[in-house]
Amino acid sequence: MYRHDAVLGRMASSRTVMFGSQTAHSAISLHPIGASVVRTKKSEETTMARRNATIPAIVAAIFFLDATAMLPYPKAEAKSQMPKQVFGKIQDGQSVDLYTLTNKYGMTAAISNFGGTLVSLKVPDRDGKIGDVVLGYDNPADYESGKAYFGATIGRYGNRIAHGKFTLDGVVYTLPLNNGENTLHGGIRGFNSRVWTTKDVSSSAGEALELTYLSKDGEEGFPGNLSVKVVYTLLADENALRIDYSATTDKDTVLNLTNHSYFNLAGQGNGDILQHQLTLYASQITPVDASLIPTGKLQDVHNTPFDFLQPMAIGARINMNDEQLKFGRGYDHNWVLDKKSPSALSPAARAYDAQSGRVVEVSTTEPGVQFYTGNFLDGTIHGKDGKVYGFRSAFCLETQHFPDSPNHKNFPSTELKPGQTFHSTSIYKFTVQK
Ligand code: GLA
Repeated sequence: MYRHDAVLGRMASSRTVMFGSQTAHSAISLHPIGASVVRTKKSEETTMARRNATIPAIVAAIFFLDATAMLPYPKAEAKSQMPKQVFGKIQDGQSVDLYTLTNKYGMTAAISNFGGTLVSLKVPDRDGKIGDVVLGYDNPADYESGKAYFGATIGRYGNRIAHGKFTLDGVVYTLPLNNGENTLHGGIRGFNSRVWTTKDVSSSAGEALELTYLSKDGEEGFPGNLSVKVVYTLLADENALRIDYSATTDKDTVLNLTNHSYFNLAGQGNGDILQHQLTLYASQITPVDASLIPTGKLQDVHNTPFDFLQPMAIGARINMNDEQLKFGRGYDHNWVLDKKSPSALSPAARAYDAQSGRVVEVSTTEPGVQFYTGNFLDGTIHGKDGKVYGFRSAFCLETQHFPDSPNHKNFPSTELKPGQTFHSTSIYKFTVQK
């Protein structure tokens, strides 16, 4: 019988209490999850008291000022023209929508409230020709029945939890198994198949869509009512999509949020990604067993097919005779990012496609990135515009905490407690190389 405990490499603890925050909140970090965990502002209570005690006009003025102060970005004139269209119906008959964010360079990002899904991402190539660089479907029903998690917001726990079990505060929690003997991407109905509440939160920083979802206590086996917020911002002054995640809970819980976009910089459905040049700013991976659960050890990438510290074609070593590559059927592993400080927004990856000239640079506050090369795509999926998605026709860069962290005390913690707010940010920036 395989025992994780036996192979846990007791490395020097990487669980560090982090200070500082990407936001304007008072930055008191309490717990080592994600970029920062901050205490809820006390001032909200006093503000509420003031509101109740004042005449309506002053109440309105205070409310206005307060709302302005709470905006995540500088306030802009109400100039957003974010179009919303009906995307289609899901199985229970609900109609879900598609929102399109645009910037002045003609870049667009289409996002659905079904699964908080990034449905399309259109960026220019080196000749200025706009192309859609993410895989997906033309309708929500295909997202609902699909198993690939194209573009989805993943939660409550991204990637695998071994045997669908973990212990928190002495209580054993059991999750539904949906990936052999393990739980993958939040279980049978993860955040990717929930309908989210939306709000246009555009500002001078760029057009932005906020999505919120309340994951109830016990949903898919996880403890605590978890309020989750995801904000997609298409930056106004560069071709970059920023994703900000935040969450609070009313009971101790675990979480790992990510976005599961499949990129092909040559354009979705346009061949495989084996010639893309990839850099991963990471000197270690968390090697896995045959069911893709981390062994608990950290493995140095030097002199292995996992070394992407210098730009390297994705396909150059993907078929090498290597046990880890065999387990993943290619790359399907978590890289441990080289970070100066655990909470820093720092480079995770860079990919370049010589054909189109497109470059994507990914930065994140998360400690890891799951690099997955579409090894389960086999040409049976017909996606957007009828494109056929073949083997390794896209790659994912899922910024995240490490898989199965609740069962590995030596990994950065994924626990969240009441009174704390989880924050994390990832940015996907597009440029061209001549
Ligand atoms: C993650 C997993 C992969 C695969 C994809 C979805 O990246 O690590 O093994 O399940 O999601 O197909």
